[in-house]
Amino acid sequence: MKAIVCRELGPPEKLVLDEVADPGCGTGEAVIRVRAAGVNFPDTLLIEGRYQMRLQPPFTPGAEVAGEVLKTGPGVKSLAVGQRVAAVLPSGGYAEQVCAPAQTMLPLPDSLDFVHAAAFPLVYGTALHALDQRGQLQPGETLLVLGAAGGTGLAAVQLGKLLGARVIAAASNEAKLGFCRNHGADETINYERDSLKQRVKALTGGRGADVIFDPVGDRWAADCLSSLAWNGRWLITGFAGGTIPQIPANKLLLKGAAAAGVFWGSFVAREPQKNLDNFKRLFAWQAAGRLQPPVTRTYPLAQAGQALRDLLERRATGKLVLLP
Ligand SMILES: NC(=O)c1ccc[n+]([C@@H]2O[C@H](COP(=O)([O-])OP(=O)(O)OC[C@H]3O[C@@H](n4cnc5c(N)ncnc54)[C@H](OP(=O)(O)O)[C@@H]3O)[C@@H](O)[C@H]2O)c1
Repeated sequence: MKAIVCRELGPPEKLVLDEVADPGCGTGEAVIRVRAAGVNFPDTLLIEGRYQMRLQPPFTPGAEVAGEVLKTGPGVKSLAVGQRVAAVLPSGGYAEQVCAPAQTMLPLPDSLDFVHAAAFPLVYGTALHALDQRGQLQPGETLLVLGAAGGTGLAAVQLGKLLGARVIAAASNEAKLGFCRNHGADETINYERDSLKQRVKALTGGRGADVIFDPVGDRWAADCLSSLAWNGRWLITGFAGGTIPQIPANKLLLKGAAAAGVFWGSFVAREPQKNLDNFKRLFAWQAAGRLQPPVTRTYPLAQAGQALRDLLERRATGKLVLLP
């Protein structure tokens, strides 16, 4: 089969499309014929050796796929050959086939095609876990989202609205802010042009945001702390901006506020039932026409490096998907 291979750690341009052996299928596992693979920021970190999980080359990146079950290993009773599924994986998704534990695969509702299914689990799983379990976002509260036109950011914008919040979307240019408004954002802030802190203050009558979904970190962290309302919750989700910020703890104390870490992958492993409950809600919203992943561009598998470069250069909006 064909697969994208990382032969040495480095930038996306080092990835190659190669012919590799078809995957085997052990006890409790199933092989998916990949019809679409989601492109995610952590993939850029993995191939550079900067992700929390380190892999030694050669390996195939790719954390999110949708397709049909091609074969099942011994002991697999929950899946049938031909069934449509999505899966989130540690790696291996940028390929024509991938093997994964059957119990981690999500059977797909008819309402989700493969392209949108490959863009669904990681960002919505992360954003709902963040807003609900970690942030306890309530109807009527104000949610500020950074990197709001990106994968997890736009998911947080959409879910914030579904959970009844007033959503302020922050992003780096007007096109991205328009994209956020088209997906439900009530207010927008261009945080490259304007002061994030001053604009949140103005938009909330000086109160601040109840919940901040932050997948960016870096130089905006100080403004996030200043923008928290009394009892605010700052959801530390990622560091797409590059630098991991240090937090002056006194600012949390003064606002009775909390900085909460979000690690969806560990949540799935440690609290699988709660994660499945989250997906029941997500699929119900999707089937009712209230939630759709914003896939803005698809690429042939061979252009995986270009897709990752587009993410790194902040050119992407919503979700990018590879088509093997
Ligand atoms: N904690 C978890 O469980 C979890 C799960 C999934 C992802 N993540 C992490 O969350 C972060 C965002 O993931 P994502 O899928 O939303 O990524 P994405 O689609 O690439 O969006 C990230 C956004 O960050 C902003 N950004 C600011 N500085 C940037 C820079 N130097 N390079 C790239 N983007 C920059 C960009 O928006 P502007 O141009 O508008 O600033 C971009 O749209 C990553 O660090 C990822 O590892 C964490």
